[in-house]
Amino acid sequence: MIHPATGRISDKAAQFTESVIREMTRQAQRHNAINLAQGFPDFAAPAELKRAAEEAIANDVNQYAITWGARDLREGIARKFAEWQGLTVDPETQITVCCGATEAMIASLLATVNPGDEVVIFEPFYENYGADAVLSGAVPRYVSLYPPADPDGEWSFDHAELRAAFNQHTRAIILNTPNNPTGKVFSREELEYIRDLCVEFDALAITDEIYEHIVYDGAAHISLATLDGMAERTITINGMSKTYSVTGWRVGWTIASPQLTSAIRKVHDFLTVGAAAPLQAAGAVALALPEDYYRKLAADYLARRDQLLAALRGAGLTAYRPRGAYYIMTDVSRFGFMDDLEFTRHLIADIGVAAVPGSSFYSSSLGAQQVRFAFCKRAETLAAAAERMGRLRPR
Ligand SMILES: Cc1ncc(COP(=O)(O)O)c(C=O)c1O
Repeated sequence: MIHPATGRISDKAAQFTESVIREMTRQAQRHNAINLAQGFPDFAAPAELKRAAEEAIANDVNQYAITWGARDLREGIARKFAEWQGLTVDPETQITVCCGATEAMIASLLATVNPGDEVVIFEPFYENYGADAVLSGAVPRYVSLYPPADPDGEWSFDHAELRAAFNQHTRAIILNTPNNPTGKVFSREELEYIRDLCVEFDALAITDEIYEHIVYDGAAHISLATLDGMAERTITINGMSKTYSVTGWRVGWTIASPQLTSAIRKVHDFLTVGAAAPLQAAGAVALALPEDYYRKLAADYLARRDQLLAALRGAGLTAYRPRGAYYIMTDVSRFGFMDDLEFTRHLIADIGVAAVPGSSFYSSSLGAQQVRFAFCKRAETLAAAAERMGRLRPR
């Protein structure tokens, strides 16, 4: 007999839960809490991009774009990658425009991983990667990123632990730099170590670089694909969501060798056909913005980071200083709550601030006293959250 509740649900769907991050957003709305949970800006997108999208629709760019992306957007992506990372790629054969970095990641995994292949993932990890591994049949091998003893220090990994995660079944490593949720920006030395393992074990690297322009304190974002020996074995994922403050537009892309790209394009075509055509047209305008735009983006985020870091530390949390991306990971153990879920429930319902329980970034109970806060918000929003956080007391 088919079980009425579970009988029609696939084994894969049963293996992961709904997104905790998106659930926190719904709870924030229910409790009228300030949403520092989900990573979307509450400020306006650049006016020239909005105008470009409006014009594209008015000019009837309203039908399917080429399935792997409008040519002028792909040319813009290639041009910018060459300018910022010094790597020349062919937009005709090496770029696939997807519905956000989210689709780019699952399309990349479905195109390259066979069920049972192992995929190395640093944890804490952006929660989509866990579900992506299940959907693609990959077996995740998690490697810890350890918080620094000094909260102003760097998150780090143990080189021997990373090496031990690689073996003959390793198909790929998923790397996210700048990193969500830790704010870590992987250094050249760390990337070289990862490169050497990929080469030794003939593994691919799938790198999510969606926060590439959001870096602080002199940190420099380096694309793994630019390291010797990696161009052929790296799928670089990026998108418009974070760099241009348009998370709802759903435009992202992959950059990879022609051989990998042709597999990604097939999967992408049957998953979604393509990203919204008028928003791809506006994307071409975005990719041509001058260097100043990116400098201002990073400077504005630095001010927001410093504002929230001071607020969280002022409220008594151990807040780790991020070098990139727009999140602050914290340790809340001194407040005496049973776990991160109890803490975030109290924070949303009684204090009026939504954040994400750290355990949603871990495969184990390691994050049970960690909580993540997003600072992609206006100064007024962060100030209001700071005021509310001032009411937080230990249990
Ligand atoms: C590391 C990382 N990758 C991907 C995404 C989602 O990107 P997109 O909006 O392009 O699907 C996010 C959003 O928070 C993220 O933090």
